[in-house]
Amino acid sequence: MYSEKVLDHFKNPRNVGELENPDGEGSVGNPVCGDVMTIYIKVNDDRIEDIKFKTFGCGAAIATSSMTTELAKGKTLDEALEISKANVADALDGLPPIKMHCSNLAADALHEAIKNYKEKKG
Ligand code: FES
Repeated sequence: MYSEKVLDHFKNPRNVGELENPDGEGSVGNPVCGDVMTIYIKVNDDRIEDIKFKTFGCGAAIATSSMTTELAKGKTLDEALEISKANVADALDGLPPIKMHCSNLAADALHEAIKNYKEKKG
């Protein structure tokens, strides 16, 4: 029921952890299940230079967090803002329908982190 890519990102998640003194940070909770995720970004010249995540959630939430950080790394802030939950699910070769709500968290947390960066910057 899970694609190979979901299982791979669940077993070997990329970019796990925290960044010291992040330029932006975004946390979101999933109202469906109560799981939470935080994404940290370092920005250089309007580009996401580094990105890490911490997710307290199910396997699908961890896999989508991991894939989101991979998709966002190296992108400009505007490009990263266009990453949607559908892009993340597609990049993972899909999620089971019952797990689609899990893919909401990562894109939202990424967008929140960018918003936080822009607010800090003024
Ligand atoms: Fe909570 Fe998947 S069950 S994010």
